[in-house]
Amino acid sequence: MIRWPFVTSFIILCCVTCIYTQQCEQSVDLARFDCHPDDGASQERCEARKCCWRLPIQHTNSTEKHRKSFQDISVPLCYFPSDFPAYSIVSNEPTSFGKRVRIVKSQTTFMPNDILDLTVDLLYETQQRFRIRIYDTFNKRFEVPLDVPVVEKKADMIDYEVKLAQKPFAILVTRKSTGVTLFDSSLSPLIFADQFIHISTRLSSPLLYGLGEHTQPLLINITNEWKRLTFWTRDIGVRPDTNLYGVHPFHINLELNKTGQTSFHGQFMLNANAMDMNLQPLPALTYITIGGIVDLYVFTGPTVQNVIQQYWDVIGKPLFPPYWTLGFHLCRWGYGTIENLTEVMQRMHDADFPVDIQWTDIDTMYAHLDFTYDNKTFHGLPELVRKIKAEGRHYMNIIDPGISSTQPPGTYPPYDEGLAQGIFITKYNSTEPIVGEVWPGPTVFPDFTNPKTVEWWTKFLAAYHEIIPVDGMWIDMNEPSNFVDGSHEGCTSNSLDNPPYTPHVYGGNITAKTVCTSAQQYLSSHYNLHSMYGYFEAKATNIALRTILKKRPFVLSRSTFAGSGHYTTHWSGDNAATYQDLYQSIPTILNHNIFGMTFAGAEICGFNDETTEDLCTKWMQLGAFYPFMRNHNEIGIKAQDPAVFSWEAQQIMKQALLMRYSLLPYWYTLFFKASSISTTVIEPLFFEYPNDENTYNIDRQFLVGPALLVSPNLLQNSTTVHAYVPQDVWYEFPSGIQINKVGQYVDFETPIQKINVHVRGGFIIPMQIPGPNLVYGRTNPLEFLVALSQSGSASGSLFWDDGDSMDTIETKSYSYFEFNVTTSNTLTIYALLTKYRDLPIVLGGVKVLGVHKSVTNVNVNGKSYPNFAYNANDNILFIYGVNLNLLDDKMTQTIEWSASA
Ligand SMILES: *[C@@H]1O[C@H](CO)[C@@H](O)[C@H](O)[C@H]1NC(C)=O
Ligand SMILES: *[C@@H]1O[C@H](CO)[C@@H](O)[C@H](O)[C@H]1NC(C)=O
Ligand SMILES: *[C@@H]1O[C@H](CO)[C@@H](O)[C@H](O)[C@H]1NC(C)=O
Ligand SMILES: *[C@@H]1O[C@H](CO)[C@@H](O)[C@H](O)[C@H]1NC(C)=O
Ligand SMILES: *[C@@H]1O[C@H](CO)[C@@H](O)[C@H](O)[C@H]1NC(C)=O
Ligand SMILES: *[C@@H]1O[C@H](CO)[C@@H](O)[C@H](O)[C@H]1NC(C)=O
Ligand SMILES: *[C@@H]1O[C@H](CO)[C@@H](O)[C@H](O)[C@H]1NC(C)=O
Ligand SMILES: *[C@@H]1O[C@H](CO)[C@@H](O)[C@H](O)[C@H]1NC(C)=O
Repeated sequence: MIRWPFVTSFIILCCVTCIYTQQCEQSVDLARFDCHPDDGASQERCEARKCCWRLPIQHTNSTEKHRKSFQDISVPLCYFPSDFPAYSIVSNEPTSFGKRVRIVKSQTTFMPNDILDLTVDLLYETQQRFRIRIYDTFNKRFEVPLDVPVVEKKADMIDYEVKLAQKPFAILVTRKSTGVTLFDSSLSPLIFADQFIHISTRLSSPLLYGLGEHTQPLLINITNEWKRLTFWTRDIGVRPDTNLYGVHPFHINLELNKTGQTSFHGQFMLNANAMDMNLQPLPALTYITIGGIVDLYVFTGPTVQNVIQQYWDVIGKPLFPPYWTLGFHLCRWGYGTIENLTEVMQRMHDADFPVDIQWTDIDTMYAHLDFTYDNKTFHGLPELVRKIKAEGRHYMNIIDPGISSTQPPGTYPPYDEGLAQGIFITKYNSTEPIVGEVWPGPTVFPDFTNPKTVEWWTKFLAAYHEIIPVDGMWIDMNEPSNFVDGSHEGCTSNSLDNPPYTPHVYGGNITAKTVCTSAQQYLSSHYNLHSMYGYFEAKATNIALRTILKKRPFVLSRSTFAGSGHYTTHWSGDNAATYQDLYQSIPTILNHNIFGMTFAGAEICGFNDETTEDLCTKWMQLGAFYPFMRNHNEIGIKAQDPAVFSWEAQQIMKQALLMRYSLLPYWYTLFFKASSISTTVIEPLFFEYPNDENTYNIDRQFLVGPALLVSPNLLQNSTTVHAYVPQDVWYEFPSGIQINKVGQYVDFETPIQKINVHVRGGFIIPMQIPGPNLVYGRTNPLEFLVALSQSGSASGSLFWDDGDSMDTIETKSYSYFEFNVTTSNTLTIYALLTKYRDLPIVLGGVKVLGVHKSVTNVNVNGKSYPNFAYNANDNILFIYGVNLNLLDDKMTQTIEWSASA
């Protein structure tokens, strides 16, 4: 009688110990998956979760010291045992789209409301696109309201192979041709609770790209790093390691292959809830999201451009910007008065700077109210805007989503009508709008997921446009930002405002500086829709502008979500006037190209803090190669428009602007391609040189299209730029001199007036002599810069249309030319489409780089042509004054040169 309890407990203890030992066995720390990703892990809490608590095997004090910031994670002490409760397959049926699998689990785990019966759909959508959907078998859950392609029939040919494990249930996706892992969920348990979904995948290498919006280098290298990235839109000045304005849970993974071709694949987690992604050097990635379903795409590439194309097929292609938006944009917060605004415009004009687009910030509004302007401080703004437009220039202004709720009734129709129509976000379980605080004081928030809101927004934007004829909309503060946490009345105590697991968002709280997540929107709760607020506002604004302007819309949004690029573009938010942020702008803009926002930029010269002449000069030079080029700074600091700097700095900035403007036909063609055939506009070097390992982490240089290499000076006191020149033929721009050190790092002598730009052999760059502004410059003659490859060939293309009509691509109302040089020394121009004929388009001259034999004769369309010069020192041929009408009915035109024997 006395012995039994002892024996029982002894046996239990013994068993727990031995099973425990077995379950917890780990040969390497890297294979541990964090069972306590929330803060406050302890042995007690860990063991309560039926997880293992142990010091790392290779424990050193440096493991701990390694945490540089709160987003850095390390080897977890609490990790999943190998026999943690798992799902197993109970049925597996073939379907028209692929397979439908039922998985069940009998034991709950440590998060409330475990869902024990799940359906897994495996969709073989296209040859290169595989989709996994895991959802509650019985209850409909929130799904991201993004218009993704609906595929009902399985692709016939597929580049991937899919295998399932029975128990524990797992999915393995490999590349058919090489067997490389593209997705493998067998590493850690799938947990699917109502507000906690956990799924891991093995990565094929520790080298990743994407996962935004974060301030980080281009390459995410987790060879020796544990790292956590959090996804939740948030208004905060840019800083490393925090969730920022946008959410793009998409990454590209490089498949290291030292013997042959390097391949790439991608993954997109279509989920809008607050999410942590934990990266560890195994290498592996764990998605932890607090709602929705698992809806995961795998893109097989195999090139990095293929991966991006496959991703954009799902989220939508980038917006095609109007031609005028490629010019120089100038803004500042705090012009304060119309006199100060016109003074800046005048000094820019007097200093001979092109300002194609003048912007103003919230200070033009009356009491910060949307759809108003202050008729005292900005008296005459409507007339000024009309004057700007009459000069062939453009005007942009800001608008915020927060609508003031405290104006006297009857005085502010946007609020009164919005209230009557019920279009504002409401409090939990109530029809009353939730009230927060933004610039105008107490505000309510339009719910752009409601179709009625789009009508309301269009109506008030149209009325505003009648007074101030803006050319597009700049939508800010749309994370949405709120100066108080949640609302003026706080939030509820329910689990939508206080979820059992909170991803590591800035502020420690998902209601921090935004509206309560329990608030209700037309499509779902704010808990589910928060990170898509800017997405829906951009979509509504794009639709409104199409209605109002009947022109191609231009929208600039601070907050974005996967797919936003179809409706808007993005600038990187509130950066600072530092050399660090000068550099950081490059990886950030490259990433936004990957995310489908090709027309992206960063505040030139820095938004926060005082800039300096050296920094601002270098930033204007770099900014001349940003897709979107805007100089903007904040209130209360010194002006930083180019005209305030020394005469010398002004000349340097002007030279950078002239360089940009002369290349716009090339840029515009790149934007056309981005919107029609899904190519990026600026790109990292590894896109073009994927087998060159030296390029994998380069993010202080970039390419414009495939052909222009930009290596800016990003340092304060340096006059050399240490830059990588890939193995290829390169010519200095604009001199045309070929450089002979390639396939290595080169120290380029870079005095302040110099920008290192190189043209790649094999490409033809269409250029144009700039006019006084973008509208007036469009009829100037073009020049082709022909950069010959080693074998003496080159090719290029040119897109041309009226610049701002809607849907010119879809309706094919443009002209399109392709041109190439073959080894027979002939430039042939093919007019493939000549639908846009309202403006003349004339080829004035051709500059051919890399002509190694002296040229004695040039023929244009078969006739001998006398106006050319050959520079034997630099191997450059100039053919000038040709004035070929590219719209000539002849299908092809030729320019031929021949060398003396
Ligand atoms: C870590 O550092 C502490 C004191 O700083 C020392 O007592 C301890 O032995 C160290 N542990 C290891 C594993 O190096
Ligand atoms: C990745 O990091 C490892 C370890 O820090 C380093 O050895 C390697 O060169 C890095 N890879 C790249 C492509 O930068
Ligand atoms: C490396 O690339 C070659 C050629 O494409 C291919 O045959 C080989 O299987 C690849 N190896 C791996 C490990 O991917
Ligand atoms: C206008 O400019 C002047 C001179 O630069 C400055 O002193 C003044 O504060 C500005 N006014 C406002 C309202 O910002
Ligand atoms: C100026 O704006 C105020 C506030 O919106 C308005 O009451 C007033 O009528 C306006 N004055 C003029 C001259 O437009
Ligand atoms: C919703 O509000 C009604 C009326 O105030 C109340 O009776 C009900 O309990 C509330 N429901 C929830 C889930 O809070
Ligand atoms: C999160 O925000 C809510 C509502 O604003 C507040 O009641 C709660 O204390 C906050 N929690 C934390 C951990 O800061
Ligand atoms: C650059 O030079 C300035 C002035 O000599 C000096 O104050 C600054 O610390 C230097 N900066 C760097 C990054 O070396």
